[in-house]
This record gives sequence, C-alpha cells and structure tokens, in this order.
Amino acid sequence: MTSPTLAASARGLTKSYGRGDTLVHALRGVDLDLPAGRFTAIMGPSGSGKSTLMHCLAGLDQPTSGTVSVAGQALEGLGDDALTRFRRDHVGFVFQAFNLLPMLSAEQNIRLPAELAGRDRDPGLRERFDRIVDTLGLTARLTHRPAELSGGQQQRVAIARALLSAPAILFADEPTGNLDSTSSAEVLALLRQSVRELGQTVVMVTHEIEAARYADDVVVLADGRITERREAAAEEVSPLGDACCAPRSAHAGSVDVDRRSTRTPHSAASPAYAPRDARDAVTEGRDL
Ligand SMILES: Nc1ncnc2c1ncn2[C@@H]1O[C@H](COP(=O)(O)OP(=O)(O)OP(=O)(O)O)[C@@H](O)[C@H]1O
Ligand SMILES: [Mg+2]
Repeated sequence: MTSPTLAASARGLTKSYGRGDTLVHALRGVDLDLPAGRFTAIMGPSGSGKSTLMHCLAGLDQPTSGTVSVAGQALEGLGDDALTRFRRDHVGFVFQAFNLLPMLSAEQNIRLPAELAGRDRDPGLRERFDRIVDTLGLTARLTHRPAELSGGQQQRVAIARALLSAPAILFADEPTGNLDSTSSAEVLALLRQSVRELGQTVVMVTHEIEAARYADDVVVLADGRITERREAAAEEVSPLGDACCAPRSAHAGSVDVDRRSTRTPHSAASPAYAPRDARDAVTEGRDL
C-alpha cells in the first residue's frame, strides 16, 4: 500500500511549560500525520493544546520531546537561523489578529515576505499573485491600507500573503475568531478553495464546529492528547456541487456568533515567543 505524501508529521510530541507547582503538560504524546493537499481542522476545548501543537508543527516553538518533520525536513536538527529560513520558505501563517502592517497597502502587505526573501522577481510570481488576488476577490482593494478594509478583507489579504510563497503547509490559528459570520464563511470558503484549486495544504485550529465543517479531516485534542481523528464523510460534501468553496455539510456557513462571543481571549494571544528579527515577524504575520 502506498502512503500519501505527508506535508507534516509528528511523533511522540510532548510540550511542558513551567516547573514545580506551575508545571503544565500542554502536549502529552501526540502522533500525527498531515497528508499534503488536504484541509485539516484541529479542534478541542480551550487549553487543550491546539495552539501549542500548531506552533510545534510550524517550528515556532520547540517541543519538550518528540520529533516534527515538515515537507520532509526534520525540524529538531535545525539551528535558529536555519529554522527561520525554513519557516520563511516553506510555512505560511494566518492568525486571528490578521497582523498586517498598517502603513502598507494591501498589495505591499501581500508582497512583503517575498520581497524580504528576495523572491519578488521569481518567474511565475506575478502570475501567482494575480491568480491569488483574483481568487480571493482582492483585485479592487490592492491600493487600500488595512484600516480602509473590513475585517474579512484584511484576513483575505493575510491569506493572500501566506499563499503567495506556495508554502508546503499553511497554518491558521482561529482565522475567523475576529470575524462576523458572513466574513467567516467567506474566509473559510477561500481556504477550502485554496486546497482545491492551488493544491494547498491547510491546517486550521478552530473552536467552531461550523468552521471545521469546511475541512477534509478533523483532529480533536483534549488535555494534550489526540482523542479523535475523523475524515469528513463523503455524503457531507455540499449537494450544491460547489465543493471547492462550500462547507462540507449544508449548514456550515451559519456561524453561531453568540457562541463565538463566549470563547476565552486566550487564543488571541498565542503562547509568547520572541520573533528573532523583523523578517521573521513579517513572514509569520506578526506585529513588529
Ligand atoms: N507560554 C506558556 N506558558 C505557560 N503555559 C502555557 C503557555 N502557552 C500555553 N500554555 C498552557 O498550555 C496549555 C495549552 O495551551 P494552548 O494555548 O495550546 O491551548 P489552546 O487549545 O490553543 O487553547 P485556546 O482554545 O484557548 O486557544 C494551557 O493550559 C495553557 O495555559
Ligand atoms: Mg489557542
């Protein structure tokens, strides 16, 4: 039997914070394979370790023990600089807080990581830029600064920025956490579309069952362990025939705003880590 190409995998992953009375076991032994070209949702209650897992998989945080490999590269052997370069070249990030640079236009924000990486003259980049911007419905907004865009539009700019470098894997931590239900549905549909039309691998952390319905696979975490892993059932594909951007089940577009408002603020402030330099911060979509 041939196994699918893996975008990322983890073995025996543990992550502990603090010591003594303050010791927290955020991950307690996670084994996970993320096949390429699929949309995986990581779900679980607040504090279950979703963001920690994502950060370890993305090379933003080091596990206490265990191994991670992304696009065939084992991360544990890489030093800080090599890891920074690896993330810049192979990993895309979308965060709840958009993390756009306010003084730059939408187009400048989208192009900045490629420019910083010296890849803005790469053959095919212009074409990929046009395709992504068109797919994400941003063509008429390219000269606007973030303050002149809605939340949904800002998140679409952040997604375009992450997609432009064709990362081996795109990680999104609560990408719809700051959005209203209509913008959430749009953003989720676009992530789904990027999987189907660009062959993108997407891993999304979410609290929202409605958001997870856009995914192909759902991984459930509880108390630092994977308790369930399921594939979306074939019959859940939208009967509308527009499987590229419809939720995997009929009612996924209706996000429960009341429920969203009860979420804890914890996920907005992901576990702290210091960007190593400005380029790292921009590539990862973080504030400078
Ligand atoms: N930098 C840190 N220092 C100490 N403890 C931390 C740190 N980051 C996370 N934790 C703890 O690790 C556990 C898992 O946190 P994590 O942020 O991964 O949860 P989560 O599932 O993403 O939660 P949420 O849905 O609220 O975002 C929690 O108990 C949290 O308090
Ligand atoms: Mg979180």
